Amino acid sequence: MRLVITGGAGFIGSNFILYMMEKYPTYKIINIDTLTYAGNLENLKEVENHSNYKFIKADINDVNAMNSVFQEGIDAVINFAAESHVDRSILQPEVFVRTNVLGTQVLLEASKKYNVSKYVQVSTDEVYGSLGKTGYFREETPIAPNSPYSASKAGGDLLVRAYYETYNMPVNITRCSNNYGPYQFPEKLIPLMLTNALDDRSLPVYGDGLNVRDWLYVEDHCSAIDLVLHEGKIGEVYNIGGNNEKTNIEIVNTLINELGKSSSLIKYVQDRLGHDRRYAIDATKITRDLGWKPKHNFNTGIKDTIEWYLKNKEWWERIQSGKYQNYYENRYGAL
Ligand code: NAD
Ligand code: DAU
Repeated sequence: MRLVITGGAGFIGSNFILYMMEKYPTYKIINIDTLTYAGNLENLKEVENHSNYKFIKADINDVNAMNSVFQEGIDAVINFAAESHVDRSILQPEVFVRTNVLGTQVLLEASKKYNVSKYVQVSTDEVYGSLGKTGYFREETPIAPNSPYSASKAGGDLLVRAYYETYNMPVNITRCSNNYGPYQFPEKLIPLMLTNALDDRSLPVYGDGLNVRDWLYVEDHCSAIDLVLHEGKIGEVYNIGGNNEKTNIEIVNTLINELGKSSSLIKYVQDRLGHDRRYAIDATKITRDLGWKPKHNFNTGIKDTIEWYLKNKEWWERIQSGKYQNYYENRYGAL
């Protein structure tokens, strides 16, 4: 099996590559990543010399670069490549449209041209918008994105759907809730609060801190995508979630308590524009049809995550100082 994994130097993509290389030692993995600020090849140090792994630095918007990879013969594509941070999308929406919408179309076109057997679009529960106090996102829930990020992800999803309906392409879309775990870039809630608390810096909680997210350990997201890749019914959407709703302030308090830090570090700050109040996923379909079950519960998952950040201080300090961005040149030479 020859797999193209786009965005493989990011948080979930790198966890997925490590997961797949261990589980399927004979698969050939081609990681296409343009290395934005969020791409970090240090995440993949342990596989970088493996004969079944290849890294290609390229933008998914680059039609020629994609064609030259795909013409070698690719069995499946898993598209993780994206601009992924909501706050950045509020400041700079254009780049989100470019990668998350237009880049998806380039990948779909290359997949069609070279007869890829499965295309998996890694999407998000945010495309469904926001919930009130009750209810869950199901696969049939209408798409109603609220941020430029979620709107751009929804745009990508609609193109995937259109390629299925129009060209009968073998696609799946996955929509997962908030992930946490090793290698998450410290701009997202959990790693930001963790690294700030470890440095005794303030912990910026948006609004009243009562927005709710459903948290899933990243390895459980990887196992779900693995199942969808191999067994997902063509044309279907699968929701993935942890059944684990927490308010943001609960998360911050958990981290403070686990680290033995003072709650005086918490600072309530101005709310995010258009801040979605609550996300919650109904993952019945993937559980019933593909037999997926998460392995980690939040209590152990968060402890493992804290331990990982404590053990890998150098990893996040190199991000804070910007030094991680030299890794590509040191490893692969200047372009
Ligand atoms: P991330 O920001 O950590 O990583 C994104 C990766 O994509 C980076 O390595 C970046 O360099 C690469 N990339 C960006 N633009 C590119 C381009 N034009 N061409 C090639 N590579 C490009 O993101 P993540 O948190 O790992 O999320 C991965 C995917 O999963 C995204 O599609 C995101 O929408 C989706 N998702 C994330 C979560 C979450 O909680 N983090 C939950 C559900 C779905
Ligand atoms: O739901 C899936 C989505 O989860 C993914 O599609 C996105 O790629 C991923 O970034 C994540 O989006 P969120 O906006 O939910 O994640 P973030 O970590 O940015 O914020 C989580 C919550 O914490 C949100 O309610 C905003 C709040 N927050 C975040 C930051 C960074 C704070 O209160 N303070 C902060 O400093």
